[in-house]
Amino acid sequence: MNANTDSSVLHETPLVRGIPLFGNALDMARGPAKFFVDCYRKYGPVFRVRVLGQTYTVIAGQEAANFMSSREGKDSLRSKEFWQGLVEEYGATKTLVGVDGEEHKQLREIMKRGYSRESIRGRYNQLVKITDGALERDWKVGQLVPVVEAMQYLVVDQLGTILTGSAPLEYVKDIRTTILYILNVLVTRQRPRFLLGNPTYKKSKARVFELGQKMIDNFHANLGKKRDEDKNLIDDIMQAHLDTPEVMPASDLILTLTGPYVAGLDTVANTTSAIVYTVLKHPDVYARILAEVDELFSVENVDEDGLMKRLPTLHGAIMETMRLYPIAVAQMRTATKDFVFQGHLIREGELMYVGTSVPHFMHEFYPDPERFDVDRYTKPRSEHMQSGAYSPYGRGPHTCLGKSLAEVQIALSMARIFYKLDLALEPANYTLKLKTAPTPGPAMDFKVRVKGYRK
Ligand code: HEM
Repeated sequence: MNANTDSSVLHETPLVRGIPLFGNALDMARGPAKFFVDCYRKYGPVFRVRVLGQTYTVIAGQEAANFMSSREGKDSLRSKEFWQGLVEEYGATKTLVGVDGEEHKQLREIMKRGYSRESIRGRYNQLVKITDGALERDWKVGQLVPVVEAMQYLVVDQLGTILTGSAPLEYVKDIRTTILYILNVLVTRQRPRFLLGNPTYKKSKARVFELGQKMIDNFHANLGKKRDEDKNLIDDIMQAHLDTPEVMPASDLILTLTGPYVAGLDTVANTTSAIVYTVLKHPDVYARILAEVDELFSVENVDEDGLMKRLPTLHGAIMETMRLYPIAVAQMRTATKDFVFQGHLIREGELMYVGTSVPHFMHEFYPDPERFDVDRYTKPRSEHMQSGAYSPYGRGPHTCLGKSLAEVQIALSMARIFYKLDLALEPANYTLKLKTAPTPGPAMDFKVRVKGYRK
């Protein structure tokens, strides 16, 4: 990568053939991961696609994943344009995921503690209790359970309690609807803008604002009463607002306070749902996981420090599912300046996709890449450790801030679900259907049979 923009040494960037009007939208909607991998094989690490009249430059593969974390990548890419619609919809000035440079550092610093794994230290048993309650509520014995929806309720229950202090279950439907419309229309732009006039969306959005306002009121009501170690993400955001309103203005509070749901709901619900499928689909893996979780929960309190070490197969299954079913197939960016990537000139202002998940599907990194192999990640294989090979949580300055929290949340939730419930795919040879909007993951009609309680 360099700044040499001399056109005599540059390659021409190919445009992927599409159909009139739609461009490549249908291929991308059918399976974005496969589409990017196929294009990478055919055209190399840089190509252009057209989606509903808009051209995007795609940089993909190991080279692109590494570029994201490089100095050059940080200087050449920004996130603003893709999140601007969301920011305006909330009447805010900015959002963590949509700013870069110094401004981004400041916001990340404010939220680092609240989103960290530390924020759930000493609370694993609480997470288990929340999970048990959700199982009793939404996973009834004998029934076919819609997995993604049930997981969405579980996630709001968990994130609400852990990050914000209370589980706003009465707002789950509104949060889900608001996020669905916002991600589809304003962020990934897979649906037309007029949908935002829909009364269902408007009502849900108003309710999410009401929830944000309650968080603000609640903070003021308890100001000065909390011990430092009891403070959560909401306290940190509100304190930043009081101390440095120029960094965290009042206009940005609702979007920032309800941010954990936008960031965590679809990502965790889609991933955990996919894990239910991959594990049930592989009885040998399922049996190994059951042995691990029976051991883990044979004592009263969960071993917090040794959690992952005690669940090597489940950990492998989670990593393997996130490789094969990444929720962030590509990251969306804008070129901040003219730059050259792999011999291709990219012009300032070009809208881009960075296909960081392409290596997930390449045999050069993962032998027999279609195979669900939970032992890829242990030494000496450690296939994910190859440079640029594994990026389920993104790359570069915007790498998921909730990553280490999500890892615990996912591992503990899945451990508890497999420990408690006797589950089965129906029919036994069921093949997962996928959705791509608003985020890639199992289709909403994916159901499993709860045959009974194991414990
Ligand atoms: C399966 C679970 C998850 C996955 C796969 C995931 C993935 C990602 C990815 C790919 C990004 C980068 C987006 C970009 O570069 O444009 C991101 C950002 C982010 N994620 Fe996650 N995420 C997950 C769960 C969570 C959870 C549970 C939280 C917290 C509640 C969270 C909080 C965030 C935040 C705050 C950002 C923005 C970081 C920044 O812009 O600096 N994520 N996530």
